[in-house]
Amino acid sequence: MTHLVAPSMLSADFTNLQAEIERINSSEADWFHMDVMDGIFVPNITFGMPVIAQMKKHAQKPFDVHLMIEHPDRYIADFAKAGADILSVQYEACPHLHRTIQQIKAHGMKASVALNPHTSVSVLEDILPNLDMVLIMSVNPGFGGQKFIDNTYRKLKKIQEMKTRLHTQVMVEVDGGVTLNNASQLKAAGVDVLVAGSTVFKAQDPVQMISELKKV
Ligand code: DX5
Ligand code: ZN
Repeated sequence: MTHLVAPSMLSADFTNLQAEIERINSSEADWFHMDVMDGIFVPNITFGMPVIAQMKKHAQKPFDVHLMIEHPDRYIADFAKAGADILSVQYEACPHLHRTIQQIKAHGMKASVALNPHTSVSVLEDILPNLDMVLIMSVNPGFGGQKFIDNTYRKLKKIQEMKTRLHTQVMVEVDGGVTLNNASQLKAAGVDVLVAGSTVFKAQDPVQMISELKKV
């Protein structure tokens, strides 16, 4: 299967969101990646359900919603209603992860778990077959435009080993510091979904950049 590209709207021009969404609609991007931050789990605050619901009215591709918030369980129904198609919760914020995953699925969304850079993929051993996707954070969550952490490759290798051993087809997404320079190496490491924020939106021609990220 060829890889997917999910531009992170965190780096879009918020004063012109409709135009930014239409730009992604017209591109080869596969999903919209939405970064929700609460100022507690991460040191930044972004946007939540109302903004996502508004964006959904214009978007023509699935919404990949990444919750960097404490107690995400409280908002699963709200994000489903706002238009999330895939919902990622941070492993570090979920003491009852199995229940959280069941709830995400019960609301008709694909369920994904995000791991911070310091969190070993081995913690997913007993939940992996229940997941649709694993999101490997390749920067510390909170901000766009940070440098890719190289240890991510080690984690990607481990997750492929786990997938083989557990006979599961879970998708793997990488988020943070993805550029044209590392995209092909990430693809070779088995990544199914590349998230890219600043690489796309800071490019002179974002649509062209998405096309290049698709070609790697
Ligand atoms: C970081 C977010 C990322 C971020 C990626 O906390 O989860 O999705 O927007 O931005 P870049 O691609 O600029 O590193
Ligand atoms: Zn993200």
